[in-house]
Amino acid sequence: MQNPILQITGGTMKYTYLIILSLIISACSSSNMQNYNTDISELSLKELYADSFLIGAAINKGQIYQEDKQTAAIVTSQYNTLTAENEMKWEKIHPLENEYDFASTDKLVELSTNNKHFLVGHTLIWHFQTPDWVFEDSKGNPVSRELLLKRMRDHIQTIVSRYRGKVDAWDVVNEALNDDGTLRKSKWLDIIGPEYIAKAFEFAHAADPDAALYYNDYNLFDARKRQGTLEIVRSLKAQDLKIDGIGIQGHYGLDFDKLDEVEKSIIAFAEEGMQVMFTEVDISVLKFPETESQGADISIDVELQNELNPFAKKLPLSVTQQQADYYRNLFELFLKHRDSINRVTFWGLTDAHSWRNDWPMKGRTDYPLLFDRNNKPKQAFDAIVKLKKSFDNKKP
Ligand code: GLA
Repeated sequence: MQNPILQITGGTMKYTYLIILSLIISACSSSNMQNYNTDISELSLKELYADSFLIGAAINKGQIYQEDKQTAAIVTSQYNTLTAENEMKWEKIHPLENEYDFASTDKLVELSTNNKHFLVGHTLIWHFQTPDWVFEDSKGNPVSRELLLKRMRDHIQTIVSRYRGKVDAWDVVNEALNDDGTLRKSKWLDIIGPEYIAKAFEFAHAADPDAALYYNDYNLFDARKRQGTLEIVRSLKAQDLKIDGIGIQGHYGLDFDKLDEVEKSIIAFAEEGMQVMFTEVDISVLKFPETESQGADISIDVELQNELNPFAKKLPLSVTQQQADYYRNLFELFLKHRDSINRVTFWGLTDAHSWRNDWPMKGRTDYPLLFDRNNKPKQAFDAIVKLKKSFDNKKP
C-alpha cells in the first residue's frame, strides 16, 4: 500500500501540474488571440470613442508618405487626429534663415484633409530641435531681442498662414516650464524675456484667427508645474490673448503612480476654461534610470545598461497584461473626464518606431504603444476597446 502522505503529495503535485499546464495553454492562446487575431477592420478607436474625444497619433515621415500599407491603414481606420512627430519642428520645416521645407507638412495636410483628420501643428516655439542660427548673428553672437522677435514672427507668420484653415490647431509653445513651475532657462527666455510666450500666441492668432492655440508640456501632474501652467494661461488672458487649451503630454511608465495628481490637473485646467488634451501618450514598460529628472526632458541621455533592457528579445505576457491594465486605468480616467478632455493622441503608431526605444537611454527595446512591431494590436488596444464597450453598456 502506498504511504498516504506520499499519495496526497503525489495527487497535489499532479493537480498543481495540471493547473500550471492549463494556465500556460490559456496564456498562450489568449496571447495569440489578443496579439494576432484581433481584427481591426471590425474595430475603430475613433468610432468607438467618437462621443467622448478625438483619438489620434503622432506620425513620422515614412508614415506621412504612407510608405507602408499596414501602418497607413492604422492611421486612416483608427485615428481622427494627427500630429507630426518631428516634421513640423523648427529644425525640419525652417532649417536655414531663408529656407523653409514644406514638403512633408504639405503631404501631411493632404493626408489629413483626405481623411478628415483634425490636424495639430507641433510645434512653433520650443527650446529644443530649433537650429542655432535662430539665436545667433552671422558671427555667432547672440542676436538682439528685436531680431529674435522678428525671426519668431516671420517663422510663425509664414507657417501658420500657409496652413490657415488646414492645420486646425497649434502647439504654440512647448515645454516652457521647469518642474518647479518657474520658466525654463532657454534662449527664448534669455534674449526676449518672459514675454516671448505672449508674443508667440499673439503672432499665431494674427496668422490664423480660427486656429485653436495650445500650451503643451510634460509632468503637468506636478502641483508646481500645474500652477506654473495656470499662471501662463491667466497671464495670456489678462493680456486679451487667445489660448484654447493645455496639452498634457503623458509620457508615462508602468511605475508612474500619480494618476490622482494627473486628475487634479485635468480639473484645474478645465476650471480655468481650457480644453484639456493628452497629446503624447505612451506607457513605457521599462524602468526609468536614476537621473536627476524623472520627467520627459528630451535632453536626458543615459548610457545603455543591459540590466535596464530586460525585454530585448520579447515582452513577457505578464508585462503585456500589466500594460493593458495600465492603459485601461488611464482611459477610465479619460472617460471620467470626457466632458473636459477633447483629444487623446498617442506618441507614435507602433512599438517599432517609438522614441521610447531610445529615451532616456539609447538602444533599449520598449513596448509603449497599442500596436506591436508587426503592426498588430496588443492587449492594450483590446483593453481600451473593451473598456469603452462596457462603459457604453452601463450608460442609462
Ligand atoms: C517632447 C516633444 C515631442 C517629442 C517628444 C519625444 O515630448 O514635445 O515633440 O520630441 O518629446 O519624441
